[in-house]
Amino acid sequence: LAAGSSSGSIDMELLKEREIHRSRLQGGQLLGEGAFGHVVKATLTQPETDDVVVAVKKLKDNEDQQARQALLRETCIMLLCGNHDNVLKLKGICFRDGPLQLVLEYAEHGSLLHLLWTLRAESKLNRTVLVNKRHIFENMMVEVCCGLEHLASRRLVHRDIAARNILICGKGTAKIADFGLARDMYAVGYHRQDGGKDLLPLKWMAPEGLKNEARFTHKSDVWSFGVLLWEVAQLGRTPYPGMEGADRLYDALQNHFRLPRPQLCTDERYQLMLQCWKFNEKTRPDATTVRQQLEADPNGFF
Ligand code: ADE
Repeated sequence: LAAGSSSGSIDMELLKEREIHRSRLQGGQLLGEGAFGHVVKATLTQPETDDVVVAVKKLKDNEDQQARQALLRETCIMLLCGNHDNVLKLKGICFRDGPLQLVLEYAEHGSLLHLLWTLRAESKLNRTVLVNKRHIFENMMVEVCCGLEHLASRRLVHRDIAARNILICGKGTAKIADFGLARDMYAVGYHRQDGGKDLLPLKWMAPEGLKNEARFTHKSDVWSFGVLLWEVAQLGRTPYPGMEGADRLYDALQNHFRLPRPQLCTDERYQLMLQCWKFNEKTRPDATTVRQQLEADPNGFF
């Protein structure tokens, strides 16, 4: 067995405390589909208070023990996350009498990536929309930094910070979601799972994660945050178009190649991205420093 192929432990007592009986859920519309499962919108009835709208994450194939274990591990990580306004909340879990289901806070506006695509379409018709909405996106990036600071304080590394994994709630609050790849920093090993190579978010990964030993720290999340800043400035375009493969990407980064400066951001904002993409993670800023720089320069996009 490869060391670290199942990092993070499953605490059944913790899960039992947060059990939700599936009869309290009424499922509806499909919200999204991922590699291992899908997410539907649902209503959760509560004994003492009003019903709430939630998002329910279900496994595609519940017979797959490996996927079930992975989702249980994800659940324990989310429970370890504690409470923070910029981290998507896990309300509970259904694990008895049927397939495993995570009951999550519902994000009314969906993913930041979709929001960026909508903005790109709108801006083709009317350029002023960008300047008018700038502060919303500046604010979201500060919020993501706050979420990252919280995760770092809990010694958690997310490993998949990207616009697709930032969800936007009703009041426009940005929340870090999808802990499918998140690992406790102190869990054993960070080796790539066998055959899992293609599922990893290579274009968001820091060089130390792309290398064979696949190391991840909170500074790797800062690298990915830099790519997220780039996605915002590029209105949701995919980074490194046409460049595929971990080895190719790693070689390019080692040879000082970086994502080019987007047209829709200031030099200062691009400098901040380049700071996040320092090859040596020790010289990268932490999330707090990045947040302070964003707050000091709130007109960096568009
Ligand atoms: N898509 C995936 N997760 C979601 C959530 N929690 N809320 C809304 N849409 C989602």
